[in-house]
Amino acid sequence: MRILVFAVAVWLSPVSAATIARGAPTSERHDLVVPLGLDLYIPAPISNPITGAKAELGRRLFFDRRLSGDGRTSCATCHQPERSFTDGRQVSRGVFGREGRRNVPSILNRAYGSTAFWDGRAASLEEQVRLAVAGAIDLGLPMDQAVERLALDMSYAEAFETAYGENRLTPERLVRAIATFVRTQLSGNSAYDRFINGERTAMSPEARRGMALFMGTARCARCHSGPLLSDEEFHNTGVSWGKDAGRYWVTASPADRGRFKTPSLRNVVATAPYMHDGSLADLDAVVRFYEGGGGANPNRDEDLRP
Ligand code: HEC
Ligand code: HEC
Repeated sequence: MRILVFAVAVWLSPVSAATIARGAPTSERHDLVVPLGLDLYIPAPISNPITGAKAELGRRLFFDRRLSGDGRTSCATCHQPERSFTDGRQVSRGVFGREGRRNVPSILNRAYGSTAFWDGRAASLEEQVRLAVAGAIDLGLPMDQAVERLALDMSYAEAFETAYGENRLTPERLVRAIATFVRTQLSGNSAYDRFINGERTAMSPEARRGMALFMGTARCARCHSGPLLSDEEFHNTGVSWGKDAGRYWVTASPADRGRFKTPSLRNVVATAPYMHDGSLADLDAVVRFYEGGGGANPNRDEDLRP
């Protein structure tokens, strides 16, 4: 307990000019409560610090169907809050009913992520949002049109004023607000976090045996590690080998063929079906897949063994 108090005291102590210059303590500019198990420091670019007003504006935009080529689709069509921001479908269906190739990942805790998308092709959440708004199978609305359309709603001018001190809508401000909303969607304080924090009865004996396997013989924690239960690296587990080159699309390096970003396992019980192509229907199927050593292929990660 003494250690915990010490850590919090450090976090709340006056911030030096040097730390501000590095853009570090974004956590001090909003009243977000970080749940147990996650880092107290929420990373954000220095050009887009987290504020409550921006997150609130971003929330409106996230749910606004006018932000799409067909006027009927929003971020929340695919990232549904009641399903931990996924859609329950094998692959996504977006603007004009266009079918995507990949399964919808959750946006929870992505503030802590290294890159966005299964293949990591977006280096920041800002870049990810830009691609999602304009993307042909996501929202399909060119940025300048998006801004023009929303500017017709005077209440947006007010919300932009509150968030940025200026009421003009610009693509950059729109993107930054949505990215801030995504950054503030956090999930922690699970039975696992409480157990790790010393609450010995938080996990059932079965779950504790599963954890021992997960961390030990089954080698899951080789990749599913840290607060997100993801190393945020790219690995080849052999899911549907040969169909989607994954990380290779970004790097063109042969070794990256079939590698995908390790997904976080937080809230995983609510985000079926699984894997980048939604090819595994439930968690039993996932465990059986690993039991067989994953999908055989020349690039399969060494940590996968029957
Ligand atoms: C048509 C459904 C659809 C819509 C609409 C959509 N997304 Fe996504 N989103 C996806 C899919 C599918 C992926 C993964 C695609 C890939 O990896 O190639 C994704 C990936 C993401 C990621 C990265 C998650 C990770 O683990 O790397 C974030 C963040 C995200 N979307 C936020 C948004 C936001 C914000 C909007 C609205 C501006 C939006 N999405 C609109 C389907 C959608
Ligand atoms: C070599 C690294 C690695 C190891 C070891 C590993 N995983 Fe994974 N895991 C991944 C990657 C990468 C994916 C995504 C693969 C894909 O979609 O093609 C994944 C996907 C998953 C998913 C699906 C999550 C989702 O949102 O779709 C679950 C659940 C999962 N792993 C659990 C486990 C368990 C349980 C073990 C141990 C038996 C394990 N993993 C071992 C890297 C690994």
